[in-house]
Order: sequence, then C-alpha cells, then structure tokens
Amino acid sequence: MKPKVLITHNMFSEVLEYLKEHVEYEIGKPDGDISKHELIKKIKDKDGLLPLLVDTIDKDVLFAAPSLKIIANCAVGYNNIDIISAREKGIMVTNTPGVLTETTAELTWALILAVARRIPQAHIFTRDGLYKGWALDLFLGKELQKKRLGIVGMGRIGQAVARKARAFSMDIVYNDPHGLDPEEEAKFQATQLPLEKLLRTSDVITLHTTLTSKTFHLISEKNIHLMKKTAILINVSRGPVVEERALADALEKGTIWGAGLDVYEDEPAIYPKLFGLDNIVLLPHIGSATQETRLKMAFMAATNLIQGLKGETPNNLV
Ligand code: GLV
Repeated sequence: MKPKVLITHNMFSEVLEYLKEHVEYEIGKPDGDISKHELIKKIKDKDGLLPLLVDTIDKDVLFAAPSLKIIANCAVGYNNIDIISAREKGIMVTNTPGVLTETTAELTWALILAVARRIPQAHIFTRDGLYKGWALDLFLGKELQKKRLGIVGMGRIGQAVARKARAFSMDIVYNDPHGLDPEEEAKFQATQLPLEKLLRTSDVITLHTTLTSKTFHLISEKNIHLMKKTAILINVSRGPVVEERALADALEKGTIWGAGLDVYEDEPAIYPKLFGLDNIVLLPHIGSATQETRLKMAFMAATNLIQGLKGETPNNLV
C-alpha cells in the first residue's frame, strides 16, 4: 500500500503525476487556505504532509497526526512549522533551499529599483493619461551608483543580492551573526558592520534574515530612526522582522525616504496606513514567484517527501 499524503493546496499537475507513482495523495483545499480544523481532520491518517508557507503546522496539528513521518515544506523558510515539537515527535521537516536564491535576489532588485525610481507611481500616472510633457522635476528618484547597500542577513539570498549590486557600482556592507570569512568578503567586496552602523550609514537597507525570536521586530521604531532621511528599506524576508506600524509612521513623517515590501507582519493582512502612502511599493509575497522556480520548489518538496517516506534521509532535512 502506498503511503498517504496530504497536500494542503493545489499543486502543479507535473508534480502530482510524479507523486502519484509513489504515494496516495489528497489535496486539502484546492482554492483558498485550509483551516486549522480541516487540517487537523485531514492529517489524522496521513504519513506525509506537503504544506505551503501559509499553513501553520503547530503542536495541535502535529499531535493530531499519529503516523506522520515527514513535513516537506514547499518554501525555504519554515517558521510556519513548530520545529521543536516536530523533532520531539520524530517527524522530519524539509525545505527548498537554493532553487529560489537567484529568483528572490532578482525580485529584491526589482523592488529596490521600483522604489528608488518610483516606477509603479510613474506607471499609474502615465497609464492614467496624466503625462502632458517632459519636465525637469517629474518623478525624481534616487540614484543607486556609488551609494551604500546594507544587507541584513548574508545567507544565500543576501549573497546573491550582493553579487548583483556590483553591477550598480554600490558600496556593499552587511550584518550577519555568522559573518563571512575573509575570502568570501573579498569575493563579494562586502564589509561587515554592526547593525547600528549599517542602519545609520546605508542608502538602501535590504533584509534577508530568517524569522526567529532574535529577528522579530529587528527593524523597530528605534532602529528606523537610526536610518538616513534619504534611506530606502526593502523587506523580502519575513514580515515580522519589520514593525509595520513604526514603518508606516516613519514613511508618513518622512523619517525615511521610501520602502518596498513583499512580506507583511500578519499576511495576507496589511497595516491599513501603508495603503495610503505614496513612498512605498507593496507586493503580494512573490519573491520566488517565477514559473521556473516555483516548479523546482514543488518538485524539490515532493522529492524530499518521497525520500522521507521511503525511510531515506531527505536531501533537505532542516
Ligand atoms: C518564501 O518566502 C519561501 O520561504 O520560500
């Protein structure tokens, strides 16, 4: 008998074909989010789970699943899963690192450029027929070349952002508790700075940390006030790294110049004041959303799942 698997949401047909050879699967909820109640009901007889980052896999869910062996998260971040309880129960957890690194770094640059050059605002203006002629001061943005880029979290994605920054001739500084060794620093032409100094001196600050108790509200009201009045803040990591209310107030008052967000504190809810601001670009958590990458992520999660169910050590055990 094939192992039973719950896939929380709709899945690419190619991946379902692949899974079908190895497991018997059930799709939790093809449209919309699966509720905790439904998740608990459907997980009861399952050996494997393939969730998305929007699914909260907490103690209640884990304890409702006596035969669960593996949770193959279809995301690189896994803050949606209670890892400690999973470990206690001997349930493997896997993620999808590597395949989304460049894609997420590309989106980071799209956001940096969109905020710095006010692309969405200028697009809406043009589309609405308001362009009546060239003007010296129309949609003035911020130049990037020779400016300082501060990368908070110099893991895979932070490093990919640094590599691309060199095309813009930027001065690269970073902050990461693990640091880089001297050869890597030379490769990225990046210098480690204490967080406070990075925040005080960077023109563009981009966040690539994981979400932990240490990084929750790392960009707090106090830290936002350290930034330059001309600074741009970008977050494509996890929403709760930024205190959204404090950011909204700072943008309204002009404490910093602009911001670009792909993630939010309480997704999909967004702090209402952010909608009314002209100096922010808001995206719906699409950091890894290219056709190529999302398919690779789904195949990777499926492979991890099958490996775990076969009793092998999955490639991407966390
Ligand atoms: C996206 O945010 C991911 O963690 O894969």
